[in-house]
Amino acid sequence: PPLEKFVDALPVPGTAIPDPSVYPGADYYEVTMREGRWRFHRDLGPAKVWGYWAANPHDPRKPIGMGYLGPTLDTTIDHPTVVKWRNELPNTTHLFQFVIDEIRQGNPELTPFPPPPYQSQQPFPANVNVWNVVHQHGGYTAPQSDGTPPQSYTSDGIHGEGYTTLDPNRAAPNEQICGYTNHDRSCLLWYHDHAMGMTSLNVYAGLAGLYVIRDPADERLGLPQGEFEIPLVLQDRTFHSDGSLAYTMTQQEGEDTPVVNGKAYPYLAVEPRRYRLRLLNGSNERFWRLRFDTPRDVLPQPQLPFWLIGTDGGLRAPLPMLNFLISPAERYDLLVDFSQLPMGTNVTLTNYNAPVHYPAGVGPEITEIMQFQVTKPLSGADRTRPAAQLRLPQAADVRPEPGTRRRQWVVYQHQLFGTMTFNATPYYAPPEDTVTAGTSEIWEYVNPNHDAHPMHIHLINFQVLDRQPLDAAGYQAAYERWIDGGRRPEDLPVLENFLTGPPIPADPDEARSDKDTFKSYAETVTRVFIPDITPPTDTLAGIPGSGAEYPAWYIHHCHILEHEDDDLMRPWVIVEDDA
Ligand code: C2O
Ligand code: CU
Repeated sequence: PPLEKFVDALPVPGTAIPDPSVYPGADYYEVTMREGRWRFHRDLGPAKVWGYWAANPHDPRKPIGMGYLGPTLDTTIDHPTVVKWRNELPNTTHLFQFVIDEIRQGNPELTPFPPPPYQSQQPFPANVNVWNVVHQHGGYTAPQSDGTPPQSYTSDGIHGEGYTTLDPNRAAPNEQICGYTNHDRSCLLWYHDHAMGMTSLNVYAGLAGLYVIRDPADERLGLPQGEFEIPLVLQDRTFHSDGSLAYTMTQQEGEDTPVVNGKAYPYLAVEPRRYRLRLLNGSNERFWRLRFDTPRDVLPQPQLPFWLIGTDGGLRAPLPMLNFLISPAERYDLLVDFSQLPMGTNVTLTNYNAPVHYPAGVGPEITEIMQFQVTKPLSGADRTRPAAQLRLPQAADVRPEPGTRRRQWVVYQHQLFGTMTFNATPYYAPPEDTVTAGTSEIWEYVNPNHDAHPMHIHLINFQVLDRQPLDAAGYQAAYERWIDGGRRPEDLPVLENFLTGPPIPADPDEARSDKDTFKSYAETVTRVFIPDITPPTDTLAGIPGSGAEYPAWYIHHCHILEHEDDDLMRPWVIVEDDA
């Protein structure tokens, strides 16, 4: 029978408590990855899940976590965070071992096991089926703390070839110590597993959490705070009848049950006042087009209007909206006003018109997601500012100068294997892209697929410049001829010959916004402008070697996790300006 909707209260992950005494000048946390149990719905049995638990410096017997997902790290701008990430997950049997087994027997192109050069020391023996590494998504972080696939490690202390830790004397073999600068604007980041070749399985099992950076100056803005500021982690999952997690991505497209902060179809009782809803699309692959449906006759229109006040990288000028499209890893910071709704009104967060594999996909559709029930009496006057009167700090107005260096990334799908790469080059091939520190670039993503991809670049924030429609079939054919013809750089198809219309400016919800993930629409070229590409070189909390050194390695990739694993991801490298 279908699950009954809106019977479980929305959980809000707890906030981890820092220990300021370990690294003076930094907030220190110890966070452990562990297998546990979690009930996704009142009528589902407990499921085996993976999650993060933060040590509680006040009471060691009460770590902070839920079992699924992880505690929120609530941090302060420019005040560094140091986290010891400890791996206590099983290492011989994955929660979705059948997928690992399938892949091990399958085509070597599809292996999650690091090919050379990572396999040169055979870091992961055949009986080891689980490895992990934690990435802070969207942060301004030095490479050794960035948590990228080669840095994976296991609970019994086996390390990937690229494994690094800060302060090695304090890290056991199953631990990685990372430092985060928090030199960002105030924003909602998140952390999640980024293991070599199995990120999709590990995140699906629950390995994701929120990372908030706050600016004390924001206190004066008049935004809803405390219990009126609600984080929403949107995911989709499929369940076996006993309530356990089913990973079906290998058999069918998409998952069929919406899960918010770990509960299927939850409800949140709200007061008739303004709320700040901070949404993260934490799905493996699902795009959502979201709106707030109201019952008939409550409002002149069937949806509750709301305001966009921030994106991935921080606050922006408020924008009134009725709906929006959010792709995996994007964040939308919303101001929603329930004050005009009569007591007892139910507002349903609804997905419409966004199938899995946006926009052309088929697969299970999800419509209703969660409900906001206006049932709580006002606990006090709402002293927040109406959206139209908000004066919010905006992203800097950055524009490329003429002659800014362009870099092109072509999404290429292998005709036989179906795997995707950038520029027909696998992830593990040596980097071919070096950026000079302190320079700005335009990155041009050429997507001749029928599907959109959410593209994410580590380290930096960018702004979406423009898009241009592409003769996808023509470009794809020319690109394949180029590959078959020996891939001579001088023969690369000239993109301009395949553009079928003038540039279209950034969408209103991305214009003048700091982004770390953007939608690379189907059959479209999307250009982003990345100003001042410089890694953080400062020493964090007195930890030697915590700053970036040149050459500084980063990656960019599709944030459809199955694509990132296989193989739509490339390294890029920042080198020092030797002038
Ligand atoms: Cu959200 Cu490379 O990751
Ligand atoms: Cu993709």
